[in-house]
Amino acid sequence: MEQTERIEPVNRILDALLRLSAPVTTGRIADYIPELAKADPDAFGIAVVSVLGHAYEAGDSRKEFTLQSISKPFVYALAISDLGLDAVHERVGFEPSGEPFNAFSLDDQGRPANPMVNAGALLTSSLISGQSSSERFARIHASLSGFAGRVLDVDQKVFESERESGDRNRALAYLMKASGSLTREVLDVTEVYFRQCSLLVTTYDIAVMSATLANDGINPMTGVQIVDSAVARHTLAVMGSCGMYDYAGQWAVRVGMPAKSGVSGGISAVKPGQFGIGVFSPRLDDAGNSSRGVAVLTLLSEGYGLNLLQHPPRPASPIHLLKWDADVLSAGIRGDLDFVDLELIVHEVAEELATKKKSDAEVRFDLTHVTSIGEAANMMLEQLVTRLKESGFRVSIEDPSMLVKVGVGQGGLA
Ligand code: DON
Repeated sequence: MEQTERIEPVNRILDALLRLSAPVTTGRIADYIPELAKADPDAFGIAVVSVLGHAYEAGDSRKEFTLQSISKPFVYALAISDLGLDAVHERVGFEPSGEPFNAFSLDDQGRPANPMVNAGALLTSSLISGQSSSERFARIHASLSGFAGRVLDVDQKVFESERESGDRNRALAYLMKASGSLTREVLDVTEVYFRQCSLLVTTYDIAVMSATLANDGINPMTGVQIVDSAVARHTLAVMGSCGMYDYAGQWAVRVGMPAKSGVSGGISAVKPGQFGIGVFSPRLDDAGNSSRGVAVLTLLSEGYGLNLLQHPPRPASPIHLLKWDADVLSAGIRGDLDFVDLELIVHEVAEELATKKKSDAEVRFDLTHVTSIGEAANMMLEQLVTRLKESGFRVSIEDPSMLVKVGVGQGGLA
């Protein structure tokens, strides 16, 4: 066993989480696509891939299954990369529908509520650039393979089974065609959609795909930028509000991570900036989400404080030094600066200047140990420097990493 494996703390936690969730045997395997009904109901796997490219796995994490609806956010990411967010939004909304994934629900213009329900996914898939359906699928295939970091195969049997049993999806597409929202041929559109749903993945692949969204669109295993940062963020926002269908509200409260489920029993979940998660277990609850998948992700989120709305711990004060040397007040600052950090700096420096009553002092900000400055913090620092100068103080900023943005710092206000 390699040293890193021996000291590796995550696999055991994943093993324990699977053990704790395995007793959940409620729900039913999807059988409306006959080929899916053949899945092993007891299969259960989980994988976590961090933005640093480390992978952790337990259970059936390398068993293949079809992507199904988990393809939807990744195809949506490609559509907004191709056309831009607003052009896609004109055709497919962002709002949670609160309805089942296959509902016949369109607005007055025939526009689907969001890209995570079938109607929205069919329309999104039709927006991908490409002259023919095979060209559009080739682009989807290349992009989703990029997200996974390997070339994905289509499960031909599942694809044919989907096509044979796909009347409801065809009906949805015809409805959108009739109302003018879908502008391509129905059978071309459903063909591409059925193929994207039939791509074979493992739980590990889903974790890599999810980690790519967690990592600003860069696949942490291959280092390849698959979509840009804004596209990754927009995709995560839609997963956050609509990814779990009519369970989306409960999901936000109980788990609180952007996620997407599929009828073959997979779930993709994302902790932005940290890691992506893949889960697989075929029995589905009434909302069409893997029952054990929901159970294990609920345990994981509750156990390790992963809900995005969890109150973040307040880090140590960003001021590690505040001292006078004759008429010079030096403020040593450290860490990642956000709004509240700057508030603290503004108030502590103002208080210090007020107590000493030195109106012609020099204030030196030493940012040598600062690791990042957020937009709001940058603006407040700029304001602070301006106000100090207006009040007659001399100000200097030591910013060797040039973190302060234009207008402040080096050669700017300093
Ligand atoms: O459209 C369908 O019927 C499937 N190919 C995909 C639906 C799906 O995965 C819904 N997710 N829970």
